[in-house]
Amino acid sequence: MALSLEAFLERLDAYCSRIPLEELADLLGQLQVELADLGGAVAFDPGGYRRNLIRHGPAYEALVLCWRSGQRSTIHDHRGSSCGVRVLAGTATETTYRRQPGAGVLPVRVLNRRTGTICATQDEDIHEMSNLAADGRDLVTLHVYSPPLRTMGVYSRSDANVVYVENPHHPPELRL
Ligand SMILES: [Fe+2]
Repeated sequence: MALSLEAFLERLDAYCSRIPLEELADLLGQLQVELADLGGAVAFDPGGYRRNLIRHGPAYEALVLCWRSGQRSTIHDHRGSSCGVRVLAGTATETTYRRQPGAGVLPVRVLNRRTGTICATQDEDIHEMSNLAADGRDLVTLHVYSPPLRTMGVYSRSDANVVYVENPHHPPELRL
């Protein structure tokens, strides 16, 4: 069944506790959305990928992330949260890592996620998302975190240190 953006968000609003990852991925797959539906949530920052909160409910936050060519996330985990992503425009490169005792994280898989693709990660999964497309090719992704990802572990390729990072405080939601 196809879900409009509003119907999709209403389905998320109905959850009171963590949304199981499979259900989140299934809902993201049913979503029918165009960039034009996202209005001011499609907004970029030349200094780094930009996170635009569109809605939160008792169990989740939904954000539109906007990436210029060359912008990338940290290498991070998803401790305590289900995290579903749908690529809305462009191609997301997702690099998955694993920990090594006493050393930096090791890349184990690189996938190019085209428009329409769903990615699902949670808890101890470690990955990095990037827009590695040619100059001028933007990437827009929709992320749902349940519960909201307040603290994440950030990893290094060069040493075993893990840094715990608070996610930046969100501006008021755009309420599309
Ligand atoms: Fe992630």
